[in-house]
Amino acid sequence: MKSIIDCLEEGLITTDLNGKIMHYNKTAQKLLGEAISSSNASLGLLLGSKRADEIINIVGSKQKVLEKEMRIDAKPERLHLMIHARPITTEKGVQGIAIALNQFTKIRRLVNRYSSNETNYTVEDILGVSKPIRQLHEKIKSIASSNSTVLIRGESGTGKELVARAIHNYGAWSQGPFVAINCSAIPESLLESELFGYEDGAFTGARKGGKMGKFELADKGTLFLDEIGDMAQFLQVKLLRVLQERRIERIGGLYPIPVDVRVIAATNRDLEKMIAQGEFREDLYYRINVIPINIAPLRERKEDIDVLCRYFIDEYNQQLNKDVKYMTEGFGKKLCEYSWPGNVRELQNAIEYAMNLAAGDFLDVEQLPVGIREVEDEDTVSFNLEVLERRAIRRCLQQYGTTVEGKQKAAEELGIGIATLYRKMKRYGIKDVEA
Ligand SMILES: Nc1ncnc2c1ncn2[C@@H]1O[C@H](COP(=O)(O)OP(=O)(O)OP(=O)(O)O)[C@@H](O)[C@H]1O
Ligand SMILES: [Mg+2]
Repeated sequence: MKSIIDCLEEGLITTDLNGKIMHYNKTAQKLLGEAISSSNASLGLLLGSKRADEIINIVGSKQKVLEKEMRIDAKPERLHLMIHARPITTEKGVQGIAIALNQFTKIRRLVNRYSSNETNYTVEDILGVSKPIRQLHEKIKSIASSNSTVLIRGESGTGKELVARAIHNYGAWSQGPFVAINCSAIPESLLESELFGYEDGAFTGARKGGKMGKFELADKGTLFLDEIGDMAQFLQVKLLRVLQERRIERIGGLYPIPVDVRVIAATNRDLEKMIAQGEFREDLYYRINVIPINIAPLRERKEDIDVLCRYFIDEYNQQLNKDVKYMTEGFGKKLCEYSWPGNVRELQNAIEYAMNLAAGDFLDVEQLPVGIREVEDEDTVSFNLEVLERRAIRRCLQQYGTTVEGKQKAAEELGIGIATLYRKMKRYGIKDVEA
């Protein structure tokens, strides 16, 4: 029995109702040190008298289970433990207390394994043969193991998150967790506690026992701050301090907690302009922009379109149980002419759409979404009012659709009456098709 409990990765201690240590396993000894084996060892000596009293009181007298996060100054390092104490009851009543000790690093690993991070993107998953993509591969490899902050810039759908994950997985940080947080998706008051965590009773509604923030969860790994341009100013200030001092303070916390985290930030916003307008802090900008990575938009590296398409076709062949083998020349040409404002994500969606419509073993122009099929060269700048008007009407209809309601909305947006819209559509040959 002793050897069985000695194999456990969890530390185990049993005490009598006064807190005197009765039994312990090897892990507990490793965690708490030699003091545990002395003849007068007690909970009070090991955990401090206040915590010992709490355990004895709640578990021993009230016979309740107690779960609590604790930081203990054990030799040689400060321990961060989750303890789980329950009464040992026999037919004679409560005989003692059983306490399980777990290191937070382990709990953190478990949390990360079972949340969000099922995908392990690597550098090879960033497809492309263009020069910008080849340079991107090299850059990722060379910077992956450093602990300097990375700022990834790029339009929507260019693969910023993919790149962040590839950086994490290539270098030394891959041994630790990858924790992502989207700064624009969470209300700012919540974002603060999500990032830094809080202590028990920090504010009304705070969960009992407190909560770990993403910085702590990402310890020894990577924290991905997505859409950092959308972070509120007061949080920018806090973030800057954390990056400089490499420690965080939980909301309502009394002491700083050191964190060893590689931070990767991403945004598609124009931070320089935001700085000029006083919306983004310049000092934070310099602090995060230590290693800048810019991902070129797809329209500037059209030679990647073919590889990406082939990859997506393979993927959807499997998913949709199809057997598409090639794309017609016309299909490829349309893809090249289009300007891809939604970048790789939009390309992927277009291929998914086409694959759904594909009847034979090839993809042809007819299977492309209308917006891409009927592309006029929107990259060429025009000041011709008619050309601009036609473009505006088409884009607007693409957005709202050509149902009666859609046209009504489009007319409103364009600032013209519905009859005028019909007339202009006719004049410019804009068809009544679903966009
Ligand atoms: N070079 C690439 N090779 C393969 N897939 C890619 C590439 N770039 C992007 N993707 C794919 O395109 C989609 C969008 O990528 P991702 O979410 O990383 O973009 P993003 O820049 O974070 O976009 P957003 O700004 O909208 O958040 C994902 O499915 C991703 O796997
Ligand atoms: Mg993203």
